[in-house]
Amino acid sequence: MPGGHKGRVTPKALEYLKEVVKYGFGNSTGNGMVAKFEKAFAERFGVPYAIAFFNGTTTMHACLAAAGVKPGDEVIVPPLTYAATSFAVMHQGAVPVFADVDEKTFNISPESIRARITPLTRAIIPVGLYGLSADLDPIMEIAARHNLAVIEDNAQCVLGQYKGRLAGTNGHMASFSLQASKHLTSGEGGVVLTKDEKLATGIRKFGCFGYHTVSSGTGGTMCKEDRGHPTSIRHDSLGWNYRMSSLQAAVALEQVERIDELVGLRIKCAEIFAEAVKGCAWLVPQYTPPDCVNSCWTFVCRLDTEKAGCTWDEFRNMFFSLGGDFVYGAWRLTYNEPVFQERKFLGGNFPIDSEIYKGKKQVYKPGLCPVAEAIQPKLLQFKTNYYKLDRAAQQAKILAKTIKKISRG
Ligand SMILES: Cc1ncc(COP(=O)(O)O)c(C=O)c1O
Repeated sequence: MPGGHKGRVTPKALEYLKEVVKYGFGNSTGNGMVAKFEKAFAERFGVPYAIAFFNGTTTMHACLAAAGVKPGDEVIVPPLTYAATSFAVMHQGAVPVFADVDEKTFNISPESIRARITPLTRAIIPVGLYGLSADLDPIMEIAARHNLAVIEDNAQCVLGQYKGRLAGTNGHMASFSLQASKHLTSGEGGVVLTKDEKLATGIRKFGCFGYHTVSSGTGGTMCKEDRGHPTSIRHDSLGWNYRMSSLQAAVALEQVERIDELVGLRIKCAEIFAEAVKGCAWLVPQYTPPDCVNSCWTFVCRLDTEKAGCTWDEFRNMFFSLGGDFVYGAWRLTYNEPVFQERKFLGGNFPIDSEIYKGKKQVYKPGLCPVAEAIQPKLLQFKTNYYKLDRAAQQAKILAKTIKKISRG
């Protein structure tokens, strides 16, 4: 099929899907596919609790709720990320406070986090940007000192390693996405990891209508005797339906069974691209500290436009004209999106400009995060989702040619 991703999902997924369809869909029973996915994911990370979700934004909403984040609290997030990170905060009625990023790793800076702490801060969401874990040791130290929850947003960081430890095992909770662009996919999907039984229960309950019967482990919502009885209590807390479907879980299970292969392919593609930019003084890859493993959701470089003597657009046009299939720019910094600039929040201004928020007025304007502002327009994200390495090699050749042409002027 033209434009398809052959090799991304194998026929094993069809087998699992068939199992789900054959079993049918019971209202409160299933064939256990979601539980199988959760078990496989938890085991690969060596963490006791994995909780499957519909996507990798609802995951973070549930983590914030389970951590006790309330309307009017503050949560520290980076601005250089997909908007889902701060949107999850706002959907909990909390206020995103943007901390600046490190100029080499592009990840949230612990120093900037320190400077943003106030008596209202309740949580931090460090993002593992482009496949590289944030610098979590100092972040966990800050969190311990101020009694804050840390939720790793690892939508882009699957099997990344931080000081020899898997990303997703360092914060109090970690969120992953299985949206179509990610390392593993089920079309849409998400999953949370935590080692904490109480948080696991809170997270699962929040994603399952606040059923009082739901606990940290997998399983149905109510026992047979309680189900359908007119006096039955169902909900002892507020929640949403954020559950992963068994159809998603069937594909997600096939993906987690191939997690090392799928992540390994992205890393190999990135290595091929890295070879092409080696020695180029004006195309500088994201810095991966020696004690970390970057899981290479993309291969990203910072274009030094002055040294290159060309603009971002000129670079991209040259890459395209030589046969480059695609290269992405970074998302606008979240606070530069119209939703923040025009303050189009819940019901107009909630919570940021409402009475419930007792903090300093948040001003979302240039100068808030100067390092992120300098980096964002210069980033070039090269694809690593080639499921055939010769395709990556061909694209890397085109990148090398682009560099040569631009260097010659
Ligand atoms: C860093 C980051 N966080 C969260 C998300 C949201 O995940 P989802 O689309 O599964 O809700 C994404 C991407 O989609 C992302 O890149």
